[in-house]
Amino acid sequence: MALSIFFAFLFISPSFSAFVAPITKRHVQTTPFYMLKLHLKTPLQPTDLLLHVGATFTAVDCTRNYTSTTFHPVPCNSSLCHSLQSNCDINTGKTVVPGGCVILPHNSFAHVDSLALPTTNGRNPGQLGVFHDFVFTCSDESSRLLQGHAKKEVTGLAGFGFSKFSLPAQVSTTVASSVFALCLSGSPSAPGVGFFDLIRPYYFLPGIDVSEHLNYTPIFSYPIAITTRKTNTKRYEDPYFIGVKSINVNDKPIVINQKLLTVDKNGNGGTKISTTNPYTVLERSIYSAFIEAFTNESSIMKLKSTTPIKPFKICYEANDVSETHLGPNVPAIDLVMQNDVIWRVWGKNSMVRIVEEGVDVWCLAIVDGGVRPTSSMVIGGHQLEDNLLQFDLGAKRLGFSSSLLQHKTMCANFNFTTI
Ligand SMILES: *[C@@H]1O[C@H](CO)[C@@H](O)[C@H](O)[C@H]1NC(C)=O
Ligand SMILES: *[C@@H]1O[C@H](CO)[C@@H](O)[C@H](O)[C@H]1NC(C)=O
Ligand SMILES: *[C@@H]1O[C@H](CO)[C@@H](O)[C@H](O)[C@H]1NC(C)=O
Ligand SMILES: *[C@@H]1O[C@H](CO)[C@@H](O)[C@H](O)[C@H]1NC(C)=O
Repeated sequence: MALSIFFAFLFISPSFSAFVAPITKRHVQTTPFYMLKLHLKTPLQPTDLLLHVGATFTAVDCTRNYTSTTFHPVPCNSSLCHSLQSNCDINTGKTVVPGGCVILPHNSFAHVDSLALPTTNGRNPGQLGVFHDFVFTCSDESSRLLQGHAKKEVTGLAGFGFSKFSLPAQVSTTVASSVFALCLSGSPSAPGVGFFDLIRPYYFLPGIDVSEHLNYTPIFSYPIAITTRKTNTKRYEDPYFIGVKSINVNDKPIVINQKLLTVDKNGNGGTKISTTNPYTVLERSIYSAFIEAFTNESSIMKLKSTTPIKPFKICYEANDVSETHLGPNVPAIDLVMQNDVIWRVWGKNSMVRIVEEGVDVWCLAIVDGGVRPTSSMVIGGHQLEDNLLQFDLGAKRLGFSSSLLQHKTMCANFNFTTI
């Protein structure tokens, strides 16, 4: 949905009709997160936002140095406000925006400003395309999610959730649906990439079109509320789910209570994709069965575990593990979906290398989600790195490449030279 679209140059090549953005990995203390770079405000300012694939809206902390000649609140009684699932704020005394349009249930004010992204033909970025009237909320949600640690690095979050006000939906020229793709790089020095409004091609050096290497599985969305027990606060998301039927370790299925794998009418259960969880999280009973199977298969492969490093449970001395171009040689993990479509998680994505004083280990990068978490499985950032994911909301399917290392390329190989 393009609220209004304006190209900086008139004679833009028609093949440059999609958009692209770099996505960089950063760390808060030792916890990784992913940051999307775009341009916001008038005059345009480079802006770094936390990538959140489940967030309904983009949220920017407008209290920090926000100056822009095109920034304005959404008027209370406007048709835009009515389409936002919102309320008019009548409590004019206490609020920043007297009589402003408040988005429910997020409880933050809707604002509008200009946003710009480089155009792309799927091979290189081109000139900037500017979107006037980009809708977002003013809140410090990103700071809450990162517990205040990354205030210098990000000023908000980029919402990619299932909503007509998500970032991909607002930069999409197709009214009914949007398509976007994410390719997260594991390297803090070489960014990965996000593509908007582009089904193909996705070229990565040395000239590989990754759109030719995708498998597909149905994707669906449910609104969910996640309660943070510590602070007793709720966060609302419109995340994407896929239908994982089983998990195989070295081709052997682990035993899972099937009820946990479907999303119920309250949005509980199922397998969610997340870019704000650094590692995959499994509900306690799935986690226990998985760890047992992984341990058994590891001992068959003669892997000896060493003292684990929190929050992980299984670690091996790096010296004892052989490596291939797909990472350490450990038991293979397969996510099995409808029609037995398989997403293989290779060693590079299942294990994380931890090098500290006197320690050099590979740890299984999957964590315990406890009992009755909102979603039974949350596929996290480490497992998504160097995999291209295409979210095609029109076709209601997720295209996934599994590890691009199999095709001798990686997410950091998009050519960001502007032409
Ligand atoms: C905020 O604005 C002040 C004054 O315009 C400027 O000196 C400062 O660099 C700005 N800070 C950030 C983080 O942009
Ligand atoms: C809101 O809009 C309606 C219809 O245009 C109008 O009747 C009403 O007076 C407006 N309310 C306010 C508070 O402006
Ligand atoms: C793991 O090995 C133990 C001991 O050999 C066996 O009892 C158990 O059933 C195995 N579990 C799985 C999930 O293969
Ligand atoms: C990246 O793209 C530019 C512009 O097309 C091209 O000149 C350059 O050779 C490309 N880089 C590589 C490493 O191929």
